Amino acid sequence: MTRVYRYVVPYVIILATINFHTHIRAVSSVVALGANLLCSRVPSLTPRQRRICTRAPDAMVALSEGSSTGLRECRHQFRHQRWNCSLAGSGTFSHVVLVGSREAAYVYAVTSAGVAYSVTAACARGNISTCGCDDRKRGRYSASGWKWGGCSADINYGIKLARKFMDAREVEGDARALMNLHNNNAGRRAVRSTLSTECKCHGVSGSCTMKTCWKTLPPFTNIGKLLLQKYKKAKPVIVHKSRRRSPPYLKLRRTKRRVRRPGKSHLVYLQKSPNYCEMNPSTGSLGTVARRCNRTSRGADGCDLLCCGRGYNTQQYTRKWQCNCKFYWCCYVQCHTCQEDTEEYTCK
Ligand SMILES: *[C@@H]1O[C@H](CO)[C@@H](O)[C@H](O)[C@H]1NC(C)=O
Ligand SMILES: *[C@@H]1O[C@H](CO)[C@@H](O)[C@H](O)[C@H]1NC(C)=O
Ligand SMILES: *[C@@H]1O[C@H](CO)[C@@H](O)[C@H](O)[C@H]1NC(C)=O
Repeated sequence: MTRVYRYVVPYVIILATINFHTHIRAVSSVVALGANLLCSRVPSLTPRQRRICTRAPDAMVALSEGSSTGLRECRHQFRHQRWNCSLAGSGTFSHVVLVGSREAAYVYAVTSAGVAYSVTAACARGNISTCGCDDRKRGRYSASGWKWGGCSADINYGIKLARKFMDAREVEGDARALMNLHNNNAGRRAVRSTLSTECKCHGVSGSCTMKTCWKTLPPFTNIGKLLLQKYKKAKPVIVHKSRRRSPPYLKLRRTKRRVRRPGKSHLVYLQKSPNYCEMNPSTGSLGTVARRCNRTSRGADGCDLLCCGRGYNTQQYTRKWQCNCKFYWCCYVQCHTCQEDTEEYTCK
């Protein structure tokens, strides 16, 4: 049963975070002193993760916030789908077992991306003592004549720490571990590929005689969207065990003869996804019973698709809200109450 537990780890980290934050705040001035104690109290860290925690306790907040950022984005991107990333927050872990499906691939990629992102952002804010801005190009000029300045995001540091911390969960060395490691890496690469260059002009009254530029992180949702594209094009893989001494690795399932490895930025999966229509704890499907659907939509959130053809219930209710608010001098606000009869549809 260690298996089941391991897939659950991203969510466990989040719960642990709550504890962690309270500890952090309480002991912020004695972090170094209390690191051992602190890190031993965060449940469900692997021994390697615990060592990272002890060495860089000030990075732990960013690390755990990163995985919640990733999961929040997952819920957002999948809010209209049968599988809505509804794995965290229920407090019970019995149903969060995801098989090695493309959904699991997305979860791993987006949480790893979240961690790399959040560490990089925390470095730039000065919240982690061992990193800051990427100053390697600072002061140099680009081919088109502008100068590197400001605070460039130190994505290399973010990626390195995210790799150390997130990959430290994969201790089994089996097919699923290879899959998770691949998707973790794809997630981190997605962060790097979305970095953009931001510039500022200097010079008399807005003339751009002098321009300084720096690398900056985009809003995280851009990364969530990019990974959603990769999720749609995820590649099925199997483990290739070579007869020579090299360790097993993943290869694309749909190739005729030649052994081809998946691209490093592609998401990969080992198993076909369930249809997520019915509840099935062994695949990580909660089913769509009682999910809200849209009667007129032909998309995935429409009642036909979302309810898997089982039909839907209609509830009438009266929606009330404050409207026509007026401000009276001085000082109160008066509003009317507006109401409207509406219907809500939920899957049978
Ligand atoms: C980062 O540092 C700022 C002040 O420099 C502080 O307000 C903020 O809470 C810190 N955030 C984290 C996640 O530690
Ligand atoms: C996601 O789906 C599950 C059941 O399919 C439901 O219980 C949950 O409320 C949904 N979450 C959101 C945020 O809609
Ligand atoms: C339902 O879907 C239609 C068509 O896609 C859309 O115009 C409408 O805003 C949706 N309604 C709700 C409540 O989301």
